[in-house]
Amino acid sequence: MRTLITGAKGRLGSRLAERLNHSHEVTGIDIDSVDFTDFQAIRQTVRTLKPELVLHCGAMTAVDECALNPDEALRVNGYGTKNVALACLEVDAAMLYVSTNEVFDGRNTGEISEYDPVHPINSYGYSKMVGEQVVRDHLRKFYIVRTSWLFAQGGNNFIHAILKRAREGQPLRVVVNEVAVPTYNYDLAEAIIKLISTQQYGIYHLVNAGRASRWAFARKVLDLAGFESLEIEKISAAEYARPSTPPEYSVLKNSAAAALGITLRPWQDAVQAYLQHEGLLIS
Ligand SMILES: NC(=O)c1ccc[n+]([C@@H]2O[C@H](COP(=O)([O-])OP(=O)(O)OC[C@H]3O[C@@H](n4cnc5c(N)ncnc54)[C@H](OP(=O)(O)O)[C@@H]3O)[C@@H](O)[C@H]2O)c1
Repeated sequence: MRTLITGAKGRLGSRLAERLNHSHEVTGIDIDSVDFTDFQAIRQTVRTLKPELVLHCGAMTAVDECALNPDEALRVNGYGTKNVALACLEVDAAMLYVSTNEVFDGRNTGEISEYDPVHPINSYGYSKMVGEQVVRDHLRKFYIVRTSWLFAQGGNNFIHAILKRAREGQPLRVVVNEVAVPTYNYDLAEAIIKLISTQQYGIYHLVNAGRASRWAFARKVLDLAGFESLEIEKISAAEYARPSTPPEYSVLKNSAAAALGITLRPWQDAVQAYLQHEGLLIS
């Protein structure tokens, strides 16, 4: 299948490109080759490649930057996604748009279903909600896949940040009242690959199973990496000043994909697998 991946150098896009390379005719693009906020550029790329499927993983993902530059977040995540959707429409390509737990307001302390009403409370969430809306407005063949708290190889992520502080002997203070689901990019990519083979278009929540506070996530990482005795101070989100306001509870429930037989393992097992892959697993 001719498949175009945007954000192909990012956490999710790079893994999808790697995994699909043998079975699909894959073209990966990123900001250094095609900027999807330029309609003519993405349109020309899509017209030339004529993909049957576009996996739209490109986005402005730094939530604090989005809070500081809400117009830019909207331009990239909202209107940029509209450009991709319109280009898909022209060649009748299916589109998979990756969205986020941050389209929800964080008040639901239970699990959030695929069709619960969205209500973002920050610029990133708003821009991603606009992305969802433009995909739904323009296309019939679409998947919207919401996920949360992605961790992936390399670069800066929550796991590396926690382990770095632990190794340097710096005090650890982690927020206890922000709850979602840590999700491994490898597991998400596998679930997406299964999903696109179904052609069951619609809205999906693809996250590892379970739920965690930031604190519990950090605790698990430290326990598995040999820092069991290290204390982590529990702090509230209000004590951790940052430009963005993440939703307090945004535990996505996978029911639509589970109905198709697509489930992800518990997040604790995924963290263990990740640390093993990175050579960081001790216990
Ligand atoms: N990371 C998470 O915790 C998380 C959680 C929930 C949902 N998501 C969603 O999952 C998707 C994949 O996330 P990710 O973590 O893999 O993202 P990522 O690692 O930040 O990768 C996104 C890629 O898109 C590129 N990009 C940004 N603007 C672009 C533009 N105008 N044209 C072309 N490329 C552009 C970025 O380039 P630069 O790096 O140069 O900007 C980057 O290479 C995103 O839609 C994100 O919103 C992520």
